[in-house]
Amino acid sequence: HTVEVVEEAGSTNALVAARAREGAEAGLVIVAEHQTSGRGRLDRSWEVPPRAALTFSMLVRPSVEPASWPWLPLLTGYAVHAALDDRADGIGLKWPNDIVVDDPRGPRKLAGILVERVDTPTGPAAVLGIGINVHQSSSELPIEAATSLEQLVEGVPDRTEVLATVLASLETLLPLIDDTDALRRAYAGECVTLGREVRVDVPAGDPLTGTAVDIDAGGRLVVDTGSGEVPVGAGDVIHVR
Ligand code: BTN
Repeated sequence: HTVEVVEEAGSTNALVAARAREGAEAGLVIVAEHQTSGRGRLDRSWEVPPRAALTFSMLVRPSVEPASWPWLPLLTGYAVHAALDDRADGIGLKWPNDIVVDDPRGPRKLAGILVERVDTPTGPAAVLGIGINVHQSSSELPIEAATSLEQLVEGVPDRTEVLATVLASLETLLPLIDDTDALRRAYAGECVTLGREVRVDVPAGDPLTGTAVDIDAGGRLVVDTGSGEVPVGAGDVIHVR
């Protein structure tokens, strides 16, 4: 990897996308000490106090068929989860790619991922954007349903060490994109959404409620609503029970 650290960025995803259009090679990683307009999934913003979170983006140029692309966000979540899982009890992977921690008050978000596709002169590329809450105190967390590594582990976690672990995990696991059957099984084995009663707020239309029963071949969450199984490709999942 080439790892560049910038003091401040609007969004590391935007920075890496711009570099991709200029021909940057796969493996470029840009870390920002502070993001002033971090982006989240579903057109949300991702706001973090300076130096509290680990916010970075990585450029990949997957040479796989278009049908495999929707797996990239899930695979990124799978790899980030693998890197963090052993650090505390109850760290889970919520569909599609939130890293959450069990809590009696409901799951708390530890990390979020935003994968964006970018067309470049040498073909399609993807920007894997990762934000991990590291040092936030409870009062610095943006929403009550969030947590940080510092709240979960003994001592003060080190962002550089967390970055190294996540990059190593991505390097080991990204090749799974070439075998989405194996990836589907691996992902399903870690996804804490499966088996849960859920409500899914879909981008357009009425929310869906039911039991999350499966991940289909396209990475969609299959929800059994009682009157049929519905695959969901995008949306916000709330674990009801
Ligand atoms: C989400 O949970 O909605 C996704 C949040 C993704 C945040 C990361 S921080 C680094 C990268 N740059 C961005 O602008 N967003 C991602």
